[in-house]
Amino acid sequence: MNLDLFDLSNNGESWTETICDDAIVLRQYLASRSDELLATIKAIEAKAPFRHMKTAGGFTMSAALTGCGDYGWVSDRRGYRYSKTDPLTEQPWPDMPEILREIARECALKAGYSDYQPDACLINRYVPGAKMSLHQDKDEQDFTAPIVSISLGVPATFLFGGLQRSDKTIKVPVMHGDVVVWGGTSRMFFHGVSAIKSAYHPFWGESRINITFRVAG
Ligand code: SIN
Ligand code: FE2
Repeated sequence: MNLDLFDLSNNGESWTETICDDAIVLRQYLASRSDELLATIKAIEAKAPFRHMKTAGGFTMSAALTGCGDYGWVSDRRGYRYSKTDPLTEQPWPDMPEILREIARECALKAGYSDYQPDACLINRYVPGAKMSLHQDKDEQDFTAPIVSISLGVPATFLFGGLQRSDKTIKVPVMHGDVVVWGGTSRMFFHGVSAIKSAYHPFWGESRINITFRVAG
């Protein structure tokens, strides 16, 4: 591995790795904040349970989804969109907790984006075998804002490609506490998650949790 890619300025506790222009991984950046993150996600889950959404084509997504903030991402036979209401509870999505706003702002700033104010926070839960096919995050209103994506629990392989679905993908292993931030020239790059392998992590047992922030509305 090329050490030039790493910024070891942070006491060796966290380091920054470059995926490509305008896409970075903040390695181990949140590893020490597991307890607060766990309590926060559990509180959101209690108000807006994880559920498996259906795609427009009628398939059931293997990752279970919930969220918080002004907007949640929803998918059904009508297609994909952001909605101010959770279709399961028919209530507004839970408020985005200050700790999540703060973390998102901090991570975006590390990637060079000041004053990041996400209005949508999606939380995906993957059990072994669950995956996310290559896709672009393109339902948001503001593409100048980056995506901040937190990995928690069991490890995964994050796939990061280019502007075309057929572009070669880079395999980025993501562990508990890693944060990927992509924006600028990489904002519309195709990305996905390979099928999760069986593993155990004290954070959420056999599952992986991913939190992504967006400026959607
Ligand atoms: C997503 O692209 O929305 C999720 C990515 C991930 O789970 O790492
Ligand atoms: Fe995505």
